[in-house]
Amino acid sequence: MASARNGELRYLDKVTIVTGGSKGIGEGIVREFVKAGSKVVFCARGDVAGKKLECEVNAMGPGESMFLQCDVTKQNQLKNLVDKTIEKYGQLDCLINNAGWHPPEKNIDDTSIQDFKNLLDLNLVNYFTLCKLSLPHLRKTKGNIINVSSLVAQIGQANAVAYVTTKGAISSMTRALAVDEAKYGVRVNTLSPGNVWTPLWDELAKQTSNFEKSKLDGEEAQLLGRMGTLEESGKSCLYLAADATFTTGIDLFLSGGAELNYGRKTRLDQ
Ligand SMILES: NC(=O)c1ccc[n+]([C@@H]2O[C@H](COP(=O)([O-])OP(=O)(O)OC[C@H]3O[C@@H](n4cnc5c(N)ncnc54)[C@H](O)[C@@H]3O)[C@@H](O)[C@H]2O)c1
Repeated sequence: MASARNGELRYLDKVTIVTGGSKGIGEGIVREFVKAGSKVVFCARGDVAGKKLECEVNAMGPGESMFLQCDVTKQNQLKNLVDKTIEKYGQLDCLINNAGWHPPEKNIDDTSIQDFKNLLDLNLVNYFTLCKLSLPHLRKTKGNIINVSSLVAQIGQANAVAYVTTKGAISSMTRALAVDEAKYGVRVNTLSPGNVWTPLWDELAKQTSNFEKSKLDGEEAQLLGRMGTLEESGKSCLYLAADATFTTGIDLFLSGGAELNYGRKTRLDQ
């Protein structure tokens, strides 16, 4: 185990749940946590990509993973996710709420109230539910929660009022939980990505009239001139879980400086 020699097994034998772990940011988290020695239980709605990733990371170790099919909008399936984790590993050290969706661009006039309620269910209610189901176990291990929010929760985004609302609520919920759970030694933090190149980003860019321009605009929104990677997303979560033991209620921007540089916001075509 080369990485053990290098002292890299920063999450050895810790048990982690990751939602939406079959692809995108969640996949990056699963890979980095297994590399750090963690036992990772991850879920997605479909099972093809998840089973494939499970086999791949288990062959590499040094940690291990277990994939479970679970639609995070279904409360009984979230309960099953936690129950199966405890049944197999007997404890829970870290919950990473990540599964979520960004709808294609829509202003408020084109967003129905039902669309809004559905997105709250998918992006926010599932995080709340899984925090609630996991906390009795996390209190026993003095574990931690990482809620994946978004940079746009803080700075807003055009034509995304429903999405931004769900992410703002996640960031606020995280701070409120951090206050309540500190007495149990449980830390609760937020990871707020800017643009990270994932299947979701690819899907949204394909729905625009100019894929290449949309991707380039996405890259140039960061001072660093590129999008973040899955590996960087996983490493940021690992930092919060394994190293940042004197943080709670913080919001870690994984954004390449996208929120910086005060400048022109209107009449951009002139
Ligand atoms: N990619 C970005 O630039 C970016 C930026 C800010 C925030 N985020 C947030 O990061 C998270 C992950 O985004 P991504 O870009 O990796 O998305 P993605 O679509 O590439 O991957 C999402 C993952 O969630 C799973 N998922 C979706 N709906 C689910 C459901 N109902 N039940 C179970 N699993 C479900 C998918 O199977 C997949 O594994 C989301 O919460 C998103 O809002 C992403």
